[in-house]
Amino acid sequence: MHILVTGGAGYIGSHIVKLLLENSNHKITILDNLVTGFQATIDTLTVIAKENNVTLNFMEEDLSDFSKIENIMHENQFDAIIHFAASLVVPESVENPLKYYLNNTANTANLIKCATENGVKKFIFSSTAATYGEPDATVVNLETGLKESDPTDPINPYGMSKLMSERVLKDTAFAYDDFKYAALRYFNVAGSDPDGRIGQSTKNATLLIKVAAETAIGKREKMYIFGDDYPTHDGTGIRDYIHVVDLAQAHIEALEYLEDHDSDVFNVGYSRGFSVKEVIDTMKKVSGIDFTVEIKERRAGDPAILISDNTKIKNTMHWQPRYDDLEVICKTTLEWEKKI
Ligand SMILES: NC(=O)c1ccc[n+]([C@@H]2O[C@H](COP(=O)([O-])OP(=O)(O)OC[C@H]3O[C@@H](n4cnc5c(N)ncnc54)[C@H](O)[C@@H]3O)[C@@H](O)[C@H]2O)c1
Repeated sequence: MHILVTGGAGYIGSHIVKLLLENSNHKITILDNLVTGFQATIDTLTVIAKENNVTLNFMEEDLSDFSKIENIMHENQFDAIIHFAASLVVPESVENPLKYYLNNTANTANLIKCATENGVKKFIFSSTAATYGEPDATVVNLETGLKESDPTDPINPYGMSKLMSERVLKDTAFAYDDFKYAALRYFNVAGSDPDGRIGQSTKNATLLIKVAAETAIGKREKMYIFGDDYPTHDGTGIRDYIHVVDLAQAHIEALEYLEDHDSDVFNVGYSRGFSVKEVIDTMKKVSGIDFTVEIKERRAGDPAILISDNTKIKNTMHWQPRYDDLEVICKTTLEWEKKI
């Protein structure tokens, strides 16, 4: 296959590209405007492609340039698209919603349009647990995790921009027999390539495990816990952290799944959670550094518990997580942080 990977210079996209380069003969084209992605990541992936004798092209383009995207899609016979490119900072989406509806929803709709016009049969979409919003504990079972069939009610434009894209995909797949999609709702993505060749270089990261790694190695003086009075065993919020390589593998399984199954939406997580305190303690353990942590007020819109129910993906795809271990997640994050 010839696979278009949008956002392949970014954190998650680059891990999928690496897996594909190492484990398949698919020709890969990355399209990325490098707004949050890195040329250095493309350089590393180019080396990996050469080592594995696989073709990797890079196009530095912006998805909002519709006529350019139309030409690219017309000139290349892509068989599948894995679409990561997006804006993903939740507070920014509240301040600047149109950036999110344009970059995430409008650009995705145009990409889907180009896909249908040019015979692309498979579309894998990066969705998010943010589509569920703040789950109502009287309606869903927070302890056993959110199911794909649970209500979706995003509480910020980021989550809504992704849910709207899911809807565009659903309606398009209904209208076009030849077009199939899998929307993967990621929970909290963390960790880095265990080979240490790529990782998360995101600037001003707000994700807990990366922040803890930055604090452990002294890039930050201290870090904060936002709220220690949640109704959880230690009072801090519980999240489902998934290692980025297991998430990457889910995309590869999804491509295979679409060969002989219909379009669908899947949670990708481990179906179990760790509290903020547990994550920080694990980072302290693997780094050997007792860094400073301060307690602050709760942040608006942070649910107490957010865990996936991953029964659907496990029962329908051949997805077998290999890095479901908080120490491994923290260690690989830390190693990458030291490297950069
Ligand atoms: N990181 C997480 O925890 C998480 C959780 C759930 C969902 N997601 C989704 O996963 C996807 C990838 O996230 P990430 O963490 O790798 O982020 P990232 O910022 O590292 O990667 C996004 C990539 O898309 C590129 N990009 C953005 N807008 C573009 C445009 N208009 N044209 C071309 N390229 C563009 C960026 O340069 C970057 O390389 C996103 O769609 C995000 O919504 C991420």
